[in-house]
Amino acid sequence: MAKPKRRFTCTSCGSVTNRWQGQCADCGEWNTLAEEAPQTVFSAKHDLSSGGRAILFEPLDKADDKLVRRSTGIAEFDRALGGGLVPGSAILMGGDPGIGKSTLLLQASAKVAQAGGLAVYISGEEAPGQIRLRAERLGLQSAPIRLASSTSVRDILTTLGGMEAPALLVIDSIQCMHSDQIEGAPGTVSQVRGCAFELIRYAKENGAALVLVGHVTKDGSIAGPRVLEHMVDVVMAFEGERSHQYRILRNLKNRFGPVDEIGVFAMAGKGLEEVSNPSMLFLSGRENPVPGSAVFPAIEGTRPVLVEIQALIVRLQSGATPRRAVVGWDNGRLAMLLAVLEARCGLNFSACEVYLNVAGGYRLADPAADLAVAAALVSALADKPLPARSVWFGEVSLAGEIRPVAHGGLRLREGAKLGFEQAYGPEDSGGAGESVAEMRHRVINLLPNLVDRIV
Ligand code: TYD
Ligand code: MG
Repeated sequence: MAKPKRRFTCTSCGSVTNRWQGQCADCGEWNTLAEEAPQTVFSAKHDLSSGGRAILFEPLDKADDKLVRRSTGIAEFDRALGGGLVPGSAILMGGDPGIGKSTLLLQASAKVAQAGGLAVYISGEEAPGQIRLRAERLGLQSAPIRLASSTSVRDILTTLGGMEAPALLVIDSIQCMHSDQIEGAPGTVSQVRGCAFELIRYAKENGAALVLVGHVTKDGSIAGPRVLEHMVDVVMAFEGERSHQYRILRNLKNRFGPVDEIGVFAMAGKGLEEVSNPSMLFLSGRENPVPGSAVFPAIEGTRPVLVEIQALIVRLQSGATPRRAVVGWDNGRLAMLLAVLEARCGLNFSACEVYLNVAGGYRLADPAADLAVAAALVSALADKPLPARSVWFGEVSLAGEIRPVAHGGLRLREGAKLGFEQAYGPEDSGGAGESVAEMRHRVINLLPNLVDRIV
C-alpha cells in the first residue's frame, strides 16, 4: 500500500487539499482548513469484484412502502416539508443564531408529543433548565417531551437503543455533537460528518424522523462539510431579519416532495406563530404611491406572496465612489440590472448611490423580480411614483428584453385578490388561457418601454 497522504479539509465548503493554506482555494474563506485523519490509499491490485454478497434488485412498483407522513402539528412547518415528517428521514435545518430554530423545534416536539407521538429533544447547547424556561414562556411546559442535554452521540444512541424509537428526534445542534470514535473537536468536518452519519443511520433503521439543527457561516450556508447536505433527505433554511418579526422556513432540498415550498411564521411573545396567508405581509400598506416603490407578486413554491421593493437613489456631488447596498436581494443581480438599464435605456446611475430594500425583512429568490426591481429603480431615479395599484414581474435579459416567467396567471390572480388593478409583465406570462377579469395585464416586452412609461 502506498503511504497515506496528509489531508486538509475546509470546514466551510468541504473541499480537500493535501497542503495547508491560510485561505481555502475553493470558497475563499480564511482559516478554515483543518487536518483530517489520512485516507487509506489502495493499490490498483485491490480488487472488489469478488467476495461480496449479492445485492437484491427490486421492482419500482412495490405497493407496500407507501409514504406515510406524520404531521408536526404546525401546518406551516408541514407545508414547508412538503406535507409533514417522513418516518426514517433526516432533515437538516440551518439558520442564523437567534432566528428561532430551537423555538420552532421545541414547539413541533411538543405538538408531536401532545398528539401521542414520542418526541425526543436533545440539546447540546442548552441545559434542560434553560429549555424548560423557554417551554414555560411558550406555554408548553406540560407537553410530554423527552428532554435531555447531551453532546455525546454514543450516549444518545445507547439511550435510544434501549427505548421505543421516537417519532421525532431533534438534535440541537449537529455542530456540538461528539463521537469518541473520531478524532478532533466537535464541529470539525470529520466529527460533524461522523456524528451525522451515525444519527442518520439510527433514524433510517428505526423509522424515526430526525431533525439536525445546523449552524450557518457568515455568508449564510450551513457550516461544516457540504457533504452534510448530501447525507440528509431534506435541507431547510430558517430565514429572516432578526430585527423583523417575520420568519420564512424555506425548503432547499427535498427527496420526498417539492422544493421551494415555504412556511411563514411571525416571532411573537409566545414563540412562533403561523402566518397562513402571508400575501399582505410584505407590503407597506400605504395608500398613495411614492417614488421608488414597486410591488412584486412572488411565487414561493406553489404559493404567491406580494412583496414591496423599495429603491432609493442619491445623487453624489463629489467624485466619491457611489455605494450600492442591497437588503433582501442578490447584489450581483442588482449590478447586472443597473448595467442593463445604463446600456439599453441610456440611464445614468454612475454618479448615484443606489439602495435597494425588500420590505419586511423578506429575502427574494424568485428570478421574476427583475422587472419590479427595474421599475423601482427607474421610478426612484425619475422621482416619479409608479402607477397606483400596479404589480410588476418578469425576468430581464442582458439585451434588455423582458422574458416570460412561470405562473403568470397565479401572480395576476393574487394581485387581483388583494385589490391591485394592473399587472405589468411580458406577453407570454399572462397565464395562457387563464383570464383574470379584475386585472389588466399591460404588456412590457422591452426595458426601454418601461422607461418610456415612467419617465
Ligand atoms: P432561538 O430559538 O433560541 O434561536 P436559534 O435556536 O435559531 O438560535 O430563538 C431565540 C430568539 O427568539 C430570541 O432572540 C428571543 C426570541 N423569542 C421570542 O421573541 N419569543 C419567544 O417566545 C421565544 C421563545 C423566543
Ligand atoms: Mg438554538
